[in-house]
Amino acid sequence: VSISLKNGGRNKTAPYLYGWMHEDISHSGDGGMYGELLVNRAFQGSGATSGSLPGVPGNSIIGSENPIIPFGPVTTGWKPIGDVFISLTQLHPLSEALPIVLQLDIPFNVTGEVGILNEGWWGIDVRPQTYDASFYAKSNGPRNNGTLSGINVSLRSNLTGETWVSSKIPTTNVSSFEYEHFEAQLVNQAMAPDSNNTFAITFNASEVAGNTYYFGLTSLFGETYEGTRIRKDLGETIVGLGSKFLRFPGGNNLEGYSIDQRWKWNETIGPLINRKGRVGDWGYYNTNGLGLMEYLDFCEAGGLQPLLGLYAGFSLDIFGQEGVSFPEDRMNLVLEDILNELEFITGDVGTYWGGKRAEYGHPEPYELNYVEIGNEDWFSTTYPYRFPILYQGIKQAYPHLTIISSTFNENDEYNITIPSGGIWDKHDYQTPSFFLENFDLFDNWQQETNNEGVTIFIGESSVFQYDVPSGSVNFSNPLGIHIPYPNLMSAIGEGVYLLGAERNPSVIDFIAYAPSLANLNWENWTPNLVSFTANFNETVKSASYYMEQLFAHFRGAETLPVTTVSGDFNPLWWASSVDEGDTTMYFKVVNSGNSSIPLTIDTDRALTAANGTMITAPSLSSFNYINNQTVVAPAPITNLPSFNGQTFSWDVPAWSINVLQFSLG
Ligand code: AHR
Repeated sequence: VSISLKNGGRNKTAPYLYGWMHEDISHSGDGGMYGELLVNRAFQGSGATSGSLPGVPGNSIIGSENPIIPFGPVTTGWKPIGDVFISLTQLHPLSEALPIVLQLDIPFNVTGEVGILNEGWWGIDVRPQTYDASFYAKSNGPRNNGTLSGINVSLRSNLTGETWVSSKIPTTNVSSFEYEHFEAQLVNQAMAPDSNNTFAITFNASEVAGNTYYFGLTSLFGETYEGTRIRKDLGETIVGLGSKFLRFPGGNNLEGYSIDQRWKWNETIGPLINRKGRVGDWGYYNTNGLGLMEYLDFCEAGGLQPLLGLYAGFSLDIFGQEGVSFPEDRMNLVLEDILNELEFITGDVGTYWGGKRAEYGHPEPYELNYVEIGNEDWFSTTYPYRFPILYQGIKQAYPHLTIISSTFNENDEYNITIPSGGIWDKHDYQTPSFFLENFDLFDNWQQETNNEGVTIFIGESSVFQYDVPSGSVNFSNPLGIHIPYPNLMSAIGEGVYLLGAERNPSVIDFIAYAPSLANLNWENWTPNLVSFTANFNETVKSASYYMEQLFAHFRGAETLPVTTVSGDFNPLWWASSVDEGDTTMYFKVVNSGNSSIPLTIDTDRALTAANGTMITAPSLSSFNYINNQTVVAPAPITNLPSFNGQTFSWDVPAWSINVLQFSLG
């Protein structure tokens, strides 16, 4: 293939192109990016089952996308220490939102150490750092004559019982009238060999025998991302992709399995003691600890543009029927709720909701420019009235907001008109061949679809299955159809599609893979961009992650037009851009074929140096996993030829994803 890169005809590249889609699926929120290390911390209920070793994906529920499991208060994750009894009670409620507490009964004759332990989210990562522990406690009044010298908190091995670190909270009494909030720092020096560790709250039995204690809202946080509530390594992974935006909170999880089970923004703010949580869409309880402000604080800390999903009056239906919609004449309630949410985020402190935000610690309004009305509303027949009502109501109050539609009138199927300036959130769970075939999909998209002024957010996209005869795509039965991990073939297919997107910055302004994060102990869906366990050493970036990271990091400010002199796309695919100062040119080239292809690039500028980065692997089905984390990962290209003046020639290896970087003379 021979191509020519010449000055002229440039376009600005899309400023927010690569980013992150987050919803709480596969315990990516609770038990994932939310930094809380204790499972079932407030006894609200949890899908997490105890007993499996961390790092061993034993509890995967793939194949049962929306399992109906019993919800409600459980002691999951908690165990007694010593000859004591634990149970749940609502007779001593901690708060209206958290009425259930753990009751610890300590018999008179007990000796040694007594208390409770928490197993964490399939383990707890213990490494040198300071942990913040806290809990609420109350007693039934001391029944023995002992004097309490304190309450111990510790991190210990679940296998050997060895204590990694402990701290004594000095207290002589635990009130029997009202709950007291106990806090401790665990300054840990130990590096545990694995994450099979527990967090314990213990007493000396001789001091407490005969007593009963009640515990509510327990918590343990290690270091977090830039002081936010986000688990440090996962926050770094998200931002480290080069992400420019964060879409949240869903996905299906925004919508709920009934109107009442929807993600209610106003129940995710304020003190944790007032957050009752909800039954999420993916078979487990959401604590709502990862709430609206936690997301927005993370966006601020990570330099991410928030892309907020708004509940739009439609909820899914667990029985697989049509779903439930607000009727047209009651959509004012949905709009009112949205306007309150927007006031909470952006209103000044003098407004009711802006004042609440200040009270909760953030007097300055948050930056918000993009909102999405609903999620995948092609599942409903009611978007044609819900979308315009909400669009107009939001625009009237917040004209600066860019509004994203979750549905588009694709193939005349859905009666939706997106006004000029709006964006369509397009979802592509597809096969590698779909992505290759649609490299040019965006080239004249606005003209061909008669949508001048409308742009596209590729909001959820991934190779989710291999090529199969048409008609066999079946999202409801992932087992055996979904691939388990993104592999080299996924990254190549997705990469080609993304090059097509990069070539069209006036059409595509955001791109995100989905789903993005999965706890290997609870996978609702595969493949996922990043998988993890409680053990920070087991956070695995996939082939697709590395491809997007490469594409995100090597992107100029303007596209550079490419003219084909000989040859054509397939199996080579490319896109080019130049940086702001016009000193560096980036040339991305993917070879989707099984043999190397000679490439010659001609420019009208002197090329002074070249270096490059490549992603390839031993086979198309190579993928990264816990014990093999970088089989498909970027590496410097070592065989770039020396070249002369304005012409560069190189054989692009088979099945490879490359970014070449030239200094321009
Ligand atoms: O990413 C998993 C699910 O796929 C999302 O919740 C939904 O938007 C889509 O159907």
